Amino acid sequence: MQTIFNTIKTIALKIDHAIKTEDLGYSNTENSSGEEQLKLDVKSDYIVEQAFMEVSIVKALVSEEKEGILEINKNGKYTICYDPLDGSSLADVNLSVGSIFGIYEGGLKGENLVASAYIVYGPRIELMVATKKGKPLHYRAQGEEFNLIGEVSLDQKGKLNAPGGTQQNWSSSHKNFIDDLFAKGYRLRYSGGMVPDLHQILLKGGGLFSYPGTSDKPEGKLRQLFEVIPFALMYEQAGGKAINSNGVRLLELIPEHPHDTTPCFFGSDYEIEALKKAYGVKA
Ligand code: AHG
Ligand code: MN
Ligand code: MN
Repeated sequence: MQTIFNTIKTIALKIDHAIKTEDLGYSNTENSSGEEQLKLDVKSDYIVEQAFMEVSIVKALVSEEKEGILEINKNGKYTICYDPLDGSSLADVNLSVGSIFGIYEGGLKGENLVASAYIVYGPRIELMVATKKGKPLHYRAQGEEFNLIGEVSLDQKGKLNAPGGTQQNWSSSHKNFIDDLFAKGYRLRYSGGMVPDLHQILLKGGGLFSYPGTSDKPEGKLRQLFEVIPFALMYEQAGGKAINSNGVRLLELIPEHPHDTTPCFFGSDYEIEALKKAYGVKA
């Protein structure tokens, strides 16, 4: 597993370099979710693929930017599901973006996730790594070195609220719940990149990130295998919770297709319990 984490560090430096030097325009192609790909999405995907080709314990890759499953090493043990560049449409306005990795052993479902990692490309490059043992570990790059900053823990209750999705298309119960949090003093923090938005909540003690099902997107927008499930492990290991709108743990999801999405909610204990009440989910 350490080989995989080391490869992710190499990937972080290469993608960061690409973000800083390459063309920020569109590529004239679409990904499996029907989204127009930026040249940077394609380049980042290539960087990740090339890096893991060399790692014999990696059996297969599943990317946001590829249709199917790419088998790379017959005798490998792990499948890595990844979003090579999350929030890529924010690159041209110079906001933070990220990469997300879910490391699965066996079939592609939540309970087979053994570790996850994400990179934040911001004023600095940061890396967060989670396994099923212990708190997530937070690293910051200095030159080519990644220095451990420490373990990350969520407080029981936070102050930040990151409400995703088009508000016009929210259900009235979701709108009331979000309004209620603001009425209780929560502060809005939403950049439109799930990596920096979830990272901020993790590092500032807690709060809620939500991306609900909406009238135009009943299954939400965020993809289970390479966005939602990897972050669910981060939040649970940090002492928080991560559920869908039925109160099911995101780590128990079983996608039917690699690109399936789900409504998702990540937060500290207090906010997730409040959400369950608002959504009428039994405890
Ligand atoms: P990607 O750039 O990989 O397609 O992901 C973008 C995602 C996610 O980062 C973010 O939280 C969400 O899209 C924002 O969507 P809205 O603009 O609908 O809020
Ligand atoms: Mn993404
Ligand atoms: Mn992406």
